[in-house]
Amino acid sequence: MKLHIADMLRAQSAGHISFHTPGHKHAGGDITELSYSDNLYSPQSVIKRAEEDAAKILGAHRSFFLTDGSTAGVFSMIFAVKAAGGERLAVPEFSHPSVFHACTAMGMQVVPIPQRVRWGIPLQPEEEEVAKALERADALLLTSPDYYGYFPPMAAAKELCRKAGKPFLCDGAHGSHLHFCESYAGKFADMWVDGVHKSLPAMTQGAVVSAQEAWASRLEEAVRIFRTTSPSYPILASVEYAVKYPRNLAIEEASEAFKRGHGCLANDDWSKILVPFGEQSSSAQAALEERNIYPEFNDGNFLMFYLSPCSKEEELAILGSVLDSLPRGEVGEDAPQGGIPIYREGL
Ligand SMILES: Cc1ncc(COP(=O)(O)O)c(C=O)c1O
Repeated sequence: MKLHIADMLRAQSAGHISFHTPGHKHAGGDITELSYSDNLYSPQSVIKRAEEDAAKILGAHRSFFLTDGSTAGVFSMIFAVKAAGGERLAVPEFSHPSVFHACTAMGMQVVPIPQRVRWGIPLQPEEEEVAKALERADALLLTSPDYYGYFPPMAAAKELCRKAGKPFLCDGAHGSHLHFCESYAGKFADMWVDGVHKSLPAMTQGAVVSAQEAWASRLEEAVRIFRTTSPSYPILASVEYAVKYPRNLAIEEASEAFKRGHGCLANDDWSKILVPFGEQSSSAQAALEERNIYPEFNDGNFLMFYLSPCSKEEELAILGSVLDSLPRGEVGEDAPQGGIPIYREGL
């Protein structure tokens, strides 16, 4: 498939004399909005075509590229709800801080959905808890999948929202690689954000926020408020590349086989491998890092290894052989020490 933004950057790069920003004067093909490079605020050419392709691929009515991370998408979705008159948003109590920050900034009241914690991992909320919170809220936001690779009850949440006539938002910061699958957030939500820089090959901060028809124009207004007016073209080009990146079934299957073969915690998402090390977590992390192997995080119970369609089976094999040589400890029930922060701001 054509890469509109990268092709434009390539075609225009030779002999370019820059009397425009950025101040590095055209290093690395990093340009600003010029006559030929379109405009993220009001796209008419290459960005418009890239966003249209993305919407088709992601099953959205409209998709908007972001160079400010999923955070800008979360703010935009919540703003769209607020602008439509929403006052209360039901969210799981361990949602990402961007959710609480957006609610604080917009004066949106948080209706917390309780989550149980097991081995320090906040579990996805039960359907009954989602239903109870939604009764007291004007909209619902769930995270799918979460950082540990678990899904909330998406189909039930969609149905609850449909019956109540309330919008369903999804934080898919960790789920963009699932757009090939039935579990993808876009199959359920009215608005959702894809963190394409996390699980697809986009540069850091690349993200996409999308909407189905009823919410598309409100979301378009919202992204204008929260996006930078100086978008990075390398990031924009990488977002288009990431959304168009093909599925890698071989690595998906290799990951699931790896989990079965190396005593990993079962989860729902091939891209997140959780290895229980308990009190041995930090020494296991140090031993891996001595061999130049870096996990995504160590939460004091589990080391998490984050894959993407670009991950290599050979590297998984190296990881497996090192993991098998490391002692495992007991996984504790308590909240993890020194692991990922658990946020309860605004509650
Ligand atoms: C669940 C979740 N939502 C949203 C975000 C924000 O994403 P970004 O860092 O791309 O702004 C993150 C970041 O880690 C996250 O984990």
